[in-house]
Amino acid sequence: RKEVRKLSTGAQGLDNLIGGGLETQSITEFFGEFGSGKTQIMLQLAVNATMPEEQGGLNSDVLIIDTENTFRPERVIQMAKAKNLDPDETLKRIHVARAYNAHHQILLAEKASDIAKEFPIKLLIVDSLTSHFRSEYVGRGSLAERQQLLNKHMHDLLKFGTIFNAVIAVTNQVSANPAVFFGDPMTPIGGNIVGHTATFRLYLRKAKAGKRIARLIDSPYLPEGEAVITLTEDGIID
Ligand code: GTP
Ligand code: MG
Repeated sequence: RKEVRKLSTGAQGLDNLIGGGLETQSITEFFGEFGSGKTQIMLQLAVNATMPEEQGGLNSDVLIIDTENTFRPERVIQMAKAKNLDPDETLKRIHVARAYNAHHQILLAEKASDIAKEFPIKLLIVDSLTSHFRSEYVGRGSLAERQQLLNKHMHDLLKFGTIFNAVIAVTNQVSANPAVFFGDPMTPIGGNIVGHTATFRLYLRKAKAGKRIARLIDSPYLPEGEAVITLTEDGIID
């Protein structure tokens, strides 16, 4: 077993909450409603991962599986500049694969290891993990198949993290309508299967003026707690 490495979020309080950063060989899930900052955090992690280890990075390339077409190079450039990085060099290290449907997303995760043979990928992002599954497998009749596919997908991701000693970061919305998606309104999509495979789960909620509260949920060995982060022009800060 390779030594676990940690990737800084760029916000000290959030890093402390999760024991120093996102761990390799684990899946970290960020869930929360629209606008809670999930995509912003993913872009920040992508930029941070390219940085040297002394600066909280992994000196690595990044693979983003983008299911909602929300990758924004301009935003990466802003965040890179704020860290005094060369924006073009940073963008070159961030490889974006657009997933057009749930099966395509599964396929991209299976193929991620081919990409990692060519580029030093130590961070694999899936933003969003569940959006295609949610829209394509609607209703109780398709729930079992949806969960089975999500389960397989999560295990593929975890396997990638283990083989390549990589951080896996995924986003997940909360179900807005319990009548459609079951459970209470703050239930992350995918429910228990996603929950049991994700080693770290962070629930994001909105607060005033660009602030967001991140709550650590059922971690195996860290105490539950909260950290406040701020979404700024320069990226995620305390
Ligand atoms: P969904 O994907 O819709 O579920 O939302 P999300 O959780 O991914 O939200 P996202 O990360 O897209 O957060 C959007 C929020 O980030 C906005 O409401 C802004 O508050 C903030 N944000 C995005 N871009 C910027 C920026 O350039 N500057 C600043 N200051 N804030 C930004
Ligand atoms: Mg988003």
